[in-house]
Amino acid sequence: MTQKLLDESVAYLRSKGFVDPEIGIVLGTGLGQLVDEIENPVEAHYNHIPYFPLATVEFHSGKLLFGTIEGTQVVVMQGRFHLYEGYDFLDVTYPIRVMHQLGIKKLFISNAAGAINLNFKKGDMMLIEDHINLQGGSPLAFKNVTEFGDRFVDMSEPYDIEMRKKLEEIAKQKGITLQKGVYASVVGPQLETKAEYRMLKILGADAVGMSTVPEVIVANHLRLPIVAVSVLTDECDPDNLEPINVQEIIEVAGKTEPKMVKLFKELIKQI
Ligand code: HPA
Repeated sequence: MTQKLLDESVAYLRSKGFVDPEIGIVLGTGLGQLVDEIENPVEAHYNHIPYFPLATVEFHSGKLLFGTIEGTQVVVMQGRFHLYEGYDFLDVTYPIRVMHQLGIKKLFISNAAGAINLNFKKGDMMLIEDHINLQGGSPLAFKNVTEFGDRFVDMSEPYDIEMRKKLEEIAKQKGITLQKGVYASVVGPQLETKAEYRMLKILGADAVGMSTVPEVIVANHLRLPIVAVSVLTDECDPDNLEPINVQEIIEVAGKTEPKMVKLFKELIKQI
């Protein structure tokens, strides 16, 4: 990880018109519709941006977009990088560092996740209040990390309280159910066993997924305020566990997404 690489990525994007974004947005699996709300979009495919990891998972279109939503300049990641694709922690979080250097002041994150808390239903959204890192590593465990920020990053409040409050108010006003809870991240790509779902519940997780936590750690490293929402795509009931169907996960994410778009658009308007 060097500043020189970041400088080259940023210079390329600025030359394509990615200038002065206020908000960075990461869209998770099956969650691409917010892209249609971007006015005057310009785009850069991940495999054209110098030093970006190459996009692999076929249901991600893999590009960075820049434009305006509700009068605010945004940069949007359509599709993210996952450890389960064979990337390492530095690859997965590289785009967060690039968006930070482009100038974002806030970060919005979405993901698809399984509901561990069985009071939550498939198709609900969950505002992430805290997380548990079960990915067995850290995106800050590299030699020259102190060139980019502190080594021992505080994680006592990783998700911005003010934006969380605002998002809850918006959900209430719009009559949209927004659960709240703890997100646990695993590596994947295999789904969990019944025993693992039981363990996750005992550990205090309300939802489980394969992303987000590395990005949130790096955003905290960079002191970027974060708001993150999980779209709950399946119910992880160890006593009635059905074989999981990835196509269905993507379908549920797609059906739920219009609600997430509403929340994110209104939050952009209000901040
Ligand atoms: N486990 C892990 N990741 C997931 C799940 C799950 O049940 N659902 C969607 N992403």
